[in-house]
Amino acid sequence: MPVLTNIGFLATCIDEGAQGEIHPQKNAAIAWQDDTIQWVGQEKDLPEKYADEKVFDANGKMVVPGLIDCHTHLAFGGWRPDEFAMRVQGKSYLEIAKAGGGILSTVKETRKAPEDGLYEKASEFLKEMVKLGVTTVECKSGYGLTVEDELKTLRVYRRLAEDQELGMVSTFLGAHTIPPEYKDDREGYINLVISEMIPAVAEHNLAEFCDIFTEESAFTVEESRRILLAAKAAGLTPKLHADQLTSCGGAELAAEVEAASADHLEKISDDGIEAMAKAGVVGVTLPLASLYTQEDFLDCRRLVKGGVDVAVATDFNPGSAPSYDLPLAMMLTCNQGRLTPAEVLKGATIYAAKAIKRDYKLGSIERGKQADFAIIDAPNPDFWMYHYRGANCLGTFVKGEKLV
Ligand code: NIG
Ligand code: FE
Repeated sequence: MPVLTNIGFLATCIDEGAQGEIHPQKNAAIAWQDDTIQWVGQEKDLPEKYADEKVFDANGKMVVPGLIDCHTHLAFGGWRPDEFAMRVQGKSYLEIAKAGGGILSTVKETRKAPEDGLYEKASEFLKEMVKLGVTTVECKSGYGLTVEDELKTLRVYRRLAEDQELGMVSTFLGAHTIPPEYKDDREGYINLVISEMIPAVAEHNLAEFCDIFTEESAFTVEESRRILLAAKAAGLTPKLHADQLTSCGGAELAAEVEAASADHLEKISDDGIEAMAKAGVVGVTLPLASLYTQEDFLDCRRLVKGGVDVAVATDFNPGSAPSYDLPLAMMLTCNQGRLTPAEVLKGATIYAAKAIKRDYKLGSIERGKQADFAIIDAPNPDFWMYHYRGANCLGTFVKGEKLV
């Protein structure tokens, strides 16, 4: 059975204790069979029968569970570097959106893009993400906003899940914004989402989650409730983009509809924190979006203190977060979100797995879990986050196979 030996610092990240408890082991080894971990412990205790096959050497470095990016908008047409330059000069994300840019400009490009083009582009991103230690990616639709263009995006994710090694989890985000052809008929678009898109997504089994952008400028809490309850009735688990720009009760709604996660949350209320903690909703921080839109960062400490598990993700998209660098998002969560490196590590592994309901098989290094892990060129999480640099992942294993 394959083994990984000579692990200087193994962050197992098992789901016990507080956010900062990563349950480390020194001088450790891991043994696995096919895609499943069979044994984890001190190398000196490694049973001989496990060391008879392929031996990988971690060279005394740190090994962490494969990183999980639990919030991305992976497939989209075009890019929006012009908006980046405008924001740097003082135009706000909302002003740009109101002037016809923003999400709608990517909707135009995504509708034009052929399915194969979206597939090729997204598959290049995945090849780069795995080099950072990422092993599972959640991917949202939401730049199609017609029945056919939403299904097109979700089919791209399904093909990617079949054709390449990284784990993929699909989320339907038809309620991302109101498309131009419905600008004077919100109700008409909401009805389209509820009575045509959700049933089609469910019928073809194209997504597991249904997300929504709950915000004054997008969908109200009342509209969000209707859409998410319809999704739930069709078998999709709710997720929300909530309380990003205004405190509008998105977190409270996430708790009410038993969402897997509520994401962004920069403006979350104390009541929202309490409701999420009670309902066990994971809070997902997306610091790259705050960085690129020059908005407030989420004070993650408030959530941790309030009993909410905090996951960290990139929000990779062509507008508010044009980077898929999850370790960078983790470092920002330390510096701006005020979590310790150990806390963000749990946020990008076991709690990220919870945000996509995969904690039964992903997110930690223990017997029975999927053999997904990354070797990091650092002696421990503190050093990794402190001496941040792009290229410090030395190897990524997915389902027991070494991909890089
Ligand atoms: O998660 N908040 C809404 N959606 C994206 C932004 C998408 C875009 O700008 O294209 C987000 O930040
Ligand atoms: Fe997003």
